[in-house]
Amino acid sequence: MSLKNKNIVLGVTGGIAAYKAAELTRLLIKEGSKVRVVMTEAAQAFITPLTLQALSGEAVRSELFDPAHEAAMGHIELARWADLVLVAPATANLLAKLAHGRADDLLSTLCLATEAPIAVAPAMNQQMWQSDATKDNMKRLQARNVVILGPDSGDQACGETGPGRMLEPAAIVARIKNEFAPKRLENKRILITAGPTREPIDPVRYLSNRSSGKMGFAMAIAALQAGAEVTLIAGPVSLEINKAVNRINVETAATMHTKVIENIDSCDIFIATAAVSDYRPEFMEAQKIKKDADQLTLSLTKNPDILADVAGRSSKPFCVGFAAETQNLEHYARQKLISKNLDMIIANPVDNGRGFDQEDNTLHVFWKDGDKAFATAPKTELARQLIHLIAEHTLN
Ligand code: PMT
Repeated sequence: MSLKNKNIVLGVTGGIAAYKAAELTRLLIKEGSKVRVVMTEAAQAFITPLTLQALSGEAVRSELFDPAHEAAMGHIELARWADLVLVAPATANLLAKLAHGRADDLLSTLCLATEAPIAVAPAMNQQMWQSDATKDNMKRLQARNVVILGPDSGDQACGETGPGRMLEPAAIVARIKNEFAPKRLENKRILITAGPTREPIDPVRYLSNRSSGKMGFAMAIAALQAGAEVTLIAGPVSLEINKAVNRINVETAATMHTKVIENIDSCDIFIATAAVSDYRPEFMEAQKIKKDADQLTLSLTKNPDILADVAGRSSKPFCVGFAAETQNLEHYARQKLISKNLDMIIANPVDNGRGFDQEDNTLHVFWKDGDKAFATAPKTELARQLIHLIAEHTLN
């Protein structure tokens, strides 16, 4: 998809990766975009406005109340002009301001005033990226459909190693091109399950697993961004989701099963990301179990297999399963592909603390006559690529 004649406001904030804004500006101009750069005060400590002005061919703006532009309400004019507001690098401070709707400088004000999509390329110290505050802010931004580009993981300017490096400019441009691409799943209805289930033992105890819902929620956002109408059936997790997603909360496998069957009829694609408990206690005790006995035996009974039930229907949607395995990944994944009558299975290694409740994941997708491996990357990024792959398979 071409970026020709797209109006891009490039916001640059104050981090060491600000120097990469020069290369980013150059690449966007090369794609045929018109770029207007807005810098925060801190960004100017890392790269001069003159550099970005020379590369973009446009005056660089940084003042909210700039007499030269305010006669025409400069920030509003910029907000309206933009087809996209891209903030790269986006510091923790800028992300916090966006998440809370603050408008105390030109960049944050125009982000609040624009109707154009907003994309951010976070760049910060790994500890800052992994802090609870930043995580909360990112959840809010994701729920509002802000496009999150990266970050990458690796060596950092501060000498530490971990997630928080800004994506390389070429990768940002590739992602931006994708944002302008036609919506591949327009008019498609997708049903996704996510998170764990809880199987009650007594009024205060349950059987469950470590699923956080991150992978399934990322799939829902990626499907939404690809233009699909998305229903998300979520087990108990502490995640938020864009209001455009039809979210149905459940606790047990039995309720998840009921809700899936109630909503599956008009669906084109079913993606089972949930870690559904295979078994549940045969009976739920009416009262809290007392620790009188030295040993306690729980009798378990099998839960319905939601995915196999959907894939066994006569007019089944395109069915995608996940297979979380600690060993023999490909063997077990292929077995599930066949035994559950699936169109695609996404094998997820979960040995050594991988997969469950992590930001990153490593995946290998199998279908009848092909496969594709995905190297370790953030779940949001993998979800985007998986939805792309699923779209290719369903549209052909
Ligand atoms: O939630 P996160 O912390 O982000 O972690 C993501 C994940 C590891 C949970 C996810 O990527 C994943 O691998 N989900 C599948 C987990 C699993 O245990 O799958 P399974 O091998 O037991 O089941 C195979 C498939 O059948 C899955 O698509 C599952 O949703 C489905 N299934 C299983 C049992 C059942 N009773 N009903 C089902 O629909």
